[in-house]
Amino acid sequence: MSATKISDVPTFDLRNIEFMELLGEGAFGKVRLVKQLSIISTPNPEDGTRQEIQLGAVKIMSKQKIIDAQQVDHVYNELSLQQQLKHPFIVNMKGVQQDSRSLYMLMEYVDGGEIFKLINKLGRLPASLARFYTAQMVLCFEYLHSKGFVYRDLKPENVLIHQSGYLKLSDFGFIKRLGPQERTYTICGTAQYMAPEIILNKGHGKAVDWYTLGIFLFELLEGVCPFNHEEPLEMFRMIIQTKLKFPHGFDKAAKSLIRHLTDHDLSKRYGNLKFGVEDIKNHRFFRETNFYQVITQAVQPEYVPEENPLRNKKYIMRQKGAPARHIAENNERANGSAPVKAEEDPFLKWF
Ligand SMILES: Nc1ncnc2c1ncn2[C@@H]1O[C@H](COP(=O)(O)OP(=O)(O)O)[C@@H](O)[C@H]1O
Ligand SMILES: [Mg+2]
Repeated sequence: MSATKISDVPTFDLRNIEFMELLGEGAFGKVRLVKQLSIISTPNPEDGTRQEIQLGAVKIMSKQKIIDAQQVDHVYNELSLQQQLKHPFIVNMKGVQQDSRSLYMLMEYVDGGEIFKLINKLGRLPASLARFYTAQMVLCFEYLHSKGFVYRDLKPENVLIHQSGYLKLSDFGFIKRLGPQERTYTICGTAQYMAPEIILNKGHGKAVDWYTLGIFLFELLEGVCPFNHEEPLEMFRMIIQTKLKFPHGFDKAAKSLIRHLTDHDLSKRYGNLKFGVEDIKNHRFFRETNFYQVITQAVQPEYVPEENPLRNKKYIMRQKGAPARHIAENNERANGSAPVKAEEDPFLKWF
């Protein structure tokens, strides 16, 4: 059991938070837009301090649901590891907090919605946009793997679009620290995106992320996953036994890259070979991609989300009444689940 204290995790004051719109539903609760009041000391003594209101997103997770689903360790990984990540294409986590019912994770608010919604709107993405998005996920995995982490949950629901048009990877519920050759045996991920070695329970490592990248690219270009069945067992059988099929007219370079990324043979899978991520970056699908320009955000995105009304300045003006007054009622609304008794609460010693 990972019951130890999480070191260096910043905590935030729930009394300075006002909960607002629902942004998304998670496995253990909800993600809400919040206003956060922060007291800023100004360098000029005459100004004294200044209050500033910022928008943020808070992931609220029911302690009881996490315990019931036996996911305490995964949530521990999520909270302790995500705060160590600083990358332009990864959602920045600002702090954590808890009460008897819930864990709260405060993040930067990313207001362009999930890539999933964009796929739903457009049906399929043009190859140029799919390439731009996939390049950013390549850079995310390069970073995560270099820090010794495997991500394990790439899918369009977990990738958010920033107002700039660049991406933010979110949801670190399955992140894990793994040594270079180390394997892990927990079966996790999302069925359509599960690598064969996870399904076969052979032990898996960082190569699963490259497999999911192949499925991700396929879904961006086709609008659907390559393996799909309402019966999970049948879907798993398809993943293990059938060859990935591409429809007519599928981008040829993308097809080649996807085949390399989803190779069942780990000694052939791109990303997992001697030259690591370079095999992917040098593949002809990325011939026109300058990864340096992508990571420095020097490329003008071809799709930029529409202005989100929630971003409006007026909206974040402080309303009458201190946020503190709303907190009890807001929490009740944010998460209706029952409190956990202190003596049965595994989260209390984390921070
Ligand atoms: N920082 C954020 N800004 C805006 N929306 C977010 C943010 N984080 C999460 N969401 C929304 O909430 C949903 C659920 O969050 P996620 O972390 O994926 O939860 P879970 O781990 O339960 O899947 C996401 O799919 C997304 O739509
Ligand atoms: Mg998610």
